[in-house]
Amino acid sequence: MSNETRIVLPPPASSDLLTVHAYQEIGGYKALAKALKTLTPGQVVEELRKSDLRGRGGAGFPTGMKWSFIPKGSPQPVYLCCNADESEPGTCKDRIIIEQDPHKLLEGILIACYAIGSHQAFIYIRGEFHRGAQILQMAIEDARRHGLIGPNILESGFDCEIDVYRGAGAYICGEETGLLTSLEGQRGYPRNKPPFPAIAGLYGCPTIINNVETLATIPVIIEKGGEWYTRFGTEKSRGTRLLCLSGHVNKPGVYEVELGTMTLREFIMNFGGGVPGGRKIKAVIPGGSSMPVLREDQLDVKLTFEDIQTMGSSLGSGAVIVMDETVDMVEIALLIARFYEHESCGQCTPCREGTHWFVQILEAIHQGRGQPDDLDLILDICRSEYTSICPLWAAAVWPVRSFVQQFRGEFERKIRKPEPRPERTEALTVH
Ligand SMILES: Cc1cc2nc3c(=O)[nH]c(=O)nc-3n(C[C@H](O)[C@H](O)[C@H](O)COP(=O)(O)O)c2cc1C
Ligand code: SF4
Repeated sequence: MSNETRIVLPPPASSDLLTVHAYQEIGGYKALAKALKTLTPGQVVEELRKSDLRGRGGAGFPTGMKWSFIPKGSPQPVYLCCNADESEPGTCKDRIIIEQDPHKLLEGILIACYAIGSHQAFIYIRGEFHRGAQILQMAIEDARRHGLIGPNILESGFDCEIDVYRGAGAYICGEETGLLTSLEGQRGYPRNKPPFPAIAGLYGCPTIINNVETLATIPVIIEKGGEWYTRFGTEKSRGTRLLCLSGHVNKPGVYEVELGTMTLREFIMNFGGGVPGGRKIKAVIPGGSSMPVLREDQLDVKLTFEDIQTMGSSLGSGAVIVMDETVDMVEIALLIARFYEHESCGQCTPCREGTHWFVQILEAIHQGRGQPDDLDLILDICRSEYTSICPLWAAAVWPVRSFVQQFRGEFERKIRKPEPRPERTEALTVH
C-alpha cells in the first residue's frame, strides 16, 4: 500500500488554492461558518476533545485539553500563536501547508481563536520562509477583503485579527516560551514553566501555542465532527500525520499517512521507494533530529505515537530520516551535536556546557583522538537531561545518547588504544 490518506493536505489534483475563491470552491471556510453560527466556543473545544487530536509540533499534547486550560472569563486578552518556526532538522511539512493551502491554516486559526475567546492571533514564521510569509500575508489580506478576518466575521459578531511575525532564524524560537519572548521583541530566551502559557503567556496573558499542522487539521474536525476523525488511526494516535521523508530514499517528500496502518519499514519502502542503489538501511531517525535513532532491526514498528515509544523513540515532528549502510554513525552524531551546540541559547549550564562537551568528545572520537572512557563520559553528561529551563537540552541528549547506545561498537572501533604516556624524568615546576 502506498496511498496517502489526505485529510489535511489538499487533494493531489488541486492546483492553486492561494485565494479565498479557490479555497471556497473546494468547501473552504464552511467549517468556520459552522463554528461561528451553530456552535458555542465550548462546543468547539468539546469537538476537539472528542477527536483526540494530539499536537503535531513534537510533544503530542492533546489539543482540546490544552485549549481548556485557558481561564474562563479572563479580564486579560487571550492570544493564539501559530508556531510556524519549523526548524527541527528534517522537518518540512508546515511549509507545504503554508505554501499550498494557506487558507486552511487561517481557517483553523480563526476557529481556534473563537474556541478560546481570542481576538488576536500571531503566526510566528521562521525567517527563512520568505515565500511562505508572503503567501500568508496575501492570504490574510484576501480573507480580510472577504469579511473572514477583522471585525464581525461572517456577520457573526466575532472579531479576530491575524498578524504574521517573522523570526530571525533561531531554532530555540520554535520552543513555545522562546517564541513568546521573541514575539515580545526580546532575545528569544525560553522561560521557566510553570506558569504555563495558557495562564501567563504572551505579555503575561493567557496564550495558546499550536503547530501549523495541528491548526490546519481543525477545519475538517469541525466540519465532519470529532467522532468522525476518530475513525482514522488508533485509540492513542488518531488521524493522519504529515511525514517528511528524507535521507537515503529514492523518493523523498512529504506524505500524509493514516496512523497505525503501516510499519515504519513499509512507509520507507512503499512511499520512499527504498534506498538508492539497493543498499541496506542502517538506521532511521523517526521524528526529527531530537529523537533517538532506531536500528534497522527496529523498523517493523507501527507508525503510531505509542508503538514508536515502545522502541524508545518518538514520532516527534514527523521527520523520518533514513541512513544507509555507508553512513558513519560517529560523524552523524557529531553533526547533530554541532547543531544543538550552535542553537543552545546558553541560559542553562547543563545545556550550554553539555552541548559543547558533546562536540569536543565526538570530534576527538571522529578524528581518532578518542579515549577509552569517552563513551561513558558522554553517557554521564546525558544524566542531566532534565535540569534545564526548556527541553532543548533533552533534545540534544536523546540523539547523542541513542547513537552511542545503539551503535556503541562502531564508536569503540574509532577510539584508538591509548598510547603510553612518556615517563616524566623531572619534577613539574610551576612558575
Ligand atoms: C527546541 C525546541 C524547538 C521546537 N520547535 C518547534 C517548531 O519549530 N514548531 C513547532 O510547532 N513546535 C516546536 N516545538 C514544540 C513547541 O514548544 C510546542 O510544544 C508546540 O508548538 C505546541 O504545538 P502543538 O500542541 O500543536 O503540538 C519545539 C520545542 C523545542 C523544545
Ligand atoms: S535548555 Fe538550552 S536552549 Fe533551553 S533555555 Fe536552557 S540553555 Fe537555553
